[in-house]
Amino acid sequence: MIFNLIDAAYYSFTKAHVHLYVVAYIQDFRYFFDSAKDIFDMEYWVLEQMKLKKKGENLQFRGKIALVTGAANGIGRATAEVFLREGAVVVGLDIHKKVGKMFSKSSFLGIVCDVTDKQEVKKAVQSLIKQFGGLDILVSNAGIFPESESISELKDSTWNKSLDVNLSSHQHLLQTCIPYLSYGLEASVVFIASKNVSAPGPGVAAYSVAKAGLTQLGRIAALELAEKGIRVNVVHPNAVFDTGIWTKDVLKKRAKHYKMSVKEYKTNNLLKTEVTSKDVAKMVCLISSSAFSKTTGAQIPIDGGNERVI
Ligand SMILES: NC(=O)c1ccc[n+]([C@@H]2O[C@H](COP(=O)([O-])OP(=O)(O)OC[C@H]3O[C@@H](n4cnc5c(N)ncnc54)[C@H](O)[C@@H]3O)[C@@H](O)[C@H]2O)c1
Repeated sequence: MIFNLIDAAYYSFTKAHVHLYVVAYIQDFRYFFDSAKDIFDMEYWVLEQMKLKKKGENLQFRGKIALVTGAANGIGRATAEVFLREGAVVVGLDIHKKVGKMFSKSSFLGIVCDVTDKQEVKKAVQSLIKQFGGLDILVSNAGIFPESESISELKDSTWNKSLDVNLSSHQHLLQTCIPYLSYGLEASVVFIASKNVSAPGPGVAAYSVAKAGLTQLGRIAALELAEKGIRVNVVHPNAVFDTGIWTKDVLKKRAKHYKMSVKEYKTNNLLKTEVTSKDVAKMVCLISSSAFSKTTGAQIPIDGGNERVI
């Protein structure tokens, strides 16, 4: 049965077939063939994927499988939407349970998962592989913005939580995904860091240090993973106000602090433009597309232009 399947995979040119062929050889996934149901699921998915391909017209991510973290809100949600619209199959992870019910499409799977919990991450990635057969794109986006605290009053809990969510979880997720991305087609990893890396402000050490570490992780990953054909790039957004990080109250307070109106504060950049989560999502998808197939190790700002960054 397995050999028939591999044969079929070999002679077929659909992406999912290639994945299935490869996944058969991945040691961790021996369980894949444990039951008749699993084999049915695999065969079913081959057919399902062919059907999905027929439906799409020239969609740039048709046949690709993307994993997006922090997908229940803000930049992550917008990114999942753009990938779905462009034909990808998307698996969204989030600690918030609404991720499970976000899109009623067969091409979306939302999994409730705390990215700081290694066991939950492993389980989620295994579910992805089991259901869809492979992984091509990882958008490691989940993050938190801790309360502002100066270094002299910084609580251990603030520091540790920020490093856990904003840095360590990304390292662990990437490590978990590398074996599958290695077999991905034009595999791409995008880390969502922050303008705070090159232009930090006072009171946000826990956040800025974690994001600086994440950026360095991305650079080293680009060096290490190029030989596997995996590109790794880092995006630095700033002031994306239609997200959970920016409540109306925080926005008002920050604007007042800088003696600006909310409107002035929102467009306080060189281009005098507002950056939305959809803008960031479109950039993330572009970086994951063939337009950027020759780029790895890059850091790309999306901030309307910032003198301190430039
Ligand atoms: N909004 C901005 O202005 C801005 C600027 C620079 C960088 N960023 C970065 O963009 C990324 C996305 O943030 P956003 O602005 O869309 O905010 P958001 O709060 O709208 O979205 C973040 C998502 O991450 C999820 N999340 C948080 N902790 C998690 C965990 N432990 N496990 C799984 N999911 C978790 C949240 O539930 C939420 O859905 C973050 O990494 C953030 O640091 C945002």
